[in-house]
Amino acid sequence: MAQIFHRSANTLSRVTIFGAVFIAGFVLWAIGGIVRAPYFTNQGIQRQQPVPFSHQHHVGGLGIDCRYCHTSVEKSNFAGLPPTSTCMNCHSQIWTNAQMLEPVRASFATGKPIVWSRVHRLPDFVHFNHSIHVAKGIGCASCHGRVDKMNLMYQASPLTMEWCLSCHRAPEKFIRPKEEVFNMDYVAANQAELGPRLVKQYNVQKLTSCSTCHY
Ligand code: HEC
Ligand code: HEC
Ligand code: HEC
Ligand code: HEC
Ligand code: HEC
Repeated sequence: MAQIFHRSANTLSRVTIFGAVFIAGFVLWAIGGIVRAPYFTNQGIQRQQPVPFSHQHHVGGLGIDCRYCHTSVEKSNFAGLPPTSTCMNCHSQIWTNAQMLEPVRASFATGKPIVWSRVHRLPDFVHFNHSIHVAKGIGCASCHGRVDKMNLMYQASPLTMEWCLSCHRAPEKFIRPKEEVFNMDYVAANQAELGPRLVKQYNVQKLTSCSTCHY
C-alpha cells in the first residue's frame, strides 16, 4: 500500500505536538503572569480623589497618628475613614481660603460626606480583619508600605492570596513589637532573633486553613 504520509511527516507531527504543548504551557504561564501583574492587582496605581489629600503632608510632615483619622483600626475589621469634621478640626483655621479645600468646606456645610474613591478592595469572598493584625504586632507599613511618603494614596502590596499566605506561613519574618505597629520608620535590628521571640510572647498562630479567610 502506498504511503499516505510521507516519512518526513513523522518529524513534522512530533514538532507540532511538542510545539502545541509548548505553546499551551507558554499561554498558561503568560496568563498567570498577567493576572499577577500590577495592572490586574491595582498595585502602585494612584486614585484620583475629590480632594487631593496627602498622607505625606499630614503624616510625614505634620506627624498626625493614623488613629486620629482611622479610628476603628484597633477595634474592628474596618479601619474607617475620617468624617469631614475631623478635617475641619484644623481646616476651619488653616488654609481656610484654599480652592483645593472647597469640597471639604462644602461637605461640612451641607453634611454630605466626601466620597473617597477606594484604593484597596478585596473580593467579597475574602474575609479580612484589621484589629487582629494590629493586636498581634503586624505594622501598617508591612501591608500598606511607606504611607508617610505617599502624596496620593496607592496600593503598595499585591493583595493576592499568595501574598497573604507568605506571611501567614511565616509570621516571624514580619512581626514587630506592638508599640511599633503605627511607626512608619520602624526597622528591626535583628528580625531573626526578635521574630520567633515575639511569636511566642504574643502566641501568634500560623493561620493557613482555607476557612481563615473564606467561609
Ligand atoms: C488627617 C487624616 C489622616 C491620617 C492622619 C491618616 N490618614 Fe489614611 N486616609 C485619610 C483619608 C482622608 C483617606 C481617603 C483618601 C485617600 O485614599 O487618600 C485615607 C486613606 C488611607 C488608606 C487607603 C484606603 C483605601 O481606600 O483603601 C490607607 C491604607 C491609609 N489611609 C492608611 C493610613 C496610615 C497607615 C496612616 C498612619 C501612618 C494614615 N492613613 C493616617 C486620612 C488620614
Ligand atoms: C491636625 C491638623 C490637620 C488635619 C486634621 C487635617 N489637615 Fe489638611 N492640612 C493641615 C496643614 C497644617 C496643612 C498645610 C500643610 C503643608 O503645606 O505642608 C494642610 C494641607 C492640606 C491640603 C493642601 C494640600 C497639602 O496637602 O498641602 C489639603 C487638600 C488638605 N490639607 C486636606 C485635608 C483633609 C481632606 C483632611 C481630613 C481628612 C485634613 N486635611 C485634615 C492640617 C490638617
Ligand atoms: C495584614 C495587612 C494589613 C495591615 C497590617 C493593615 N492593613 Fe489596612 N488594609 C489591608 C487590606 C487587605 C485592606 C482592604 C480591605 C478590604 O477590601 O476589605 C485594607 C484597607 C485599609 C483601609 C481602607 C478602609 C478599610 O478598612 O477597608 C484603611 C484606612 C487602612 N487599611 C488603614 C490601615 C492602618 C491605619 C493600618 C495600621 C494600623 C493598617 N491598615 C494595617 C491590609 C492591611
Ligand atoms: C505581614 C503579615 C500578614 C499579612 C501580609 C497578612 N496577615 Fe492575616 N494575620 C497575620 C497574623 C500574625 C494573624 C494573627 C494570627 C493569630 O491569631 O495568632 C493574622 C490573622 C488573620 C485572620 C484571622 C482573623 C481572626 O479573627 O481569627 C484573617 C481572616 C486574616 N489574617 C486575613 C488576611 C488576609 C485576607 C490577608 C491578605 C489580604 C492577610 N491576612 C495578610 C499576619 C498577616
Ligand atoms: C490568608 C488568607 C487566605 C487563606 C488562608 C486562603 N485564601 Fe484563598 N484567597 C485569599 C485572597 C486575598 C484571595 C483573592 C486574591 C485576588 O483577588 O487576587 C483569594 C482567592 C481565592 C480563590 C479565587 C481564585 C484566585 O486564586 O484568585 C480561590 C479559589 C481560593 N482563594 C481558594 C482557597 C483555598 C482552597 C484555600 C485553602 C487551601 C485558601 N483559598 C486559603 C486569601 C486566602
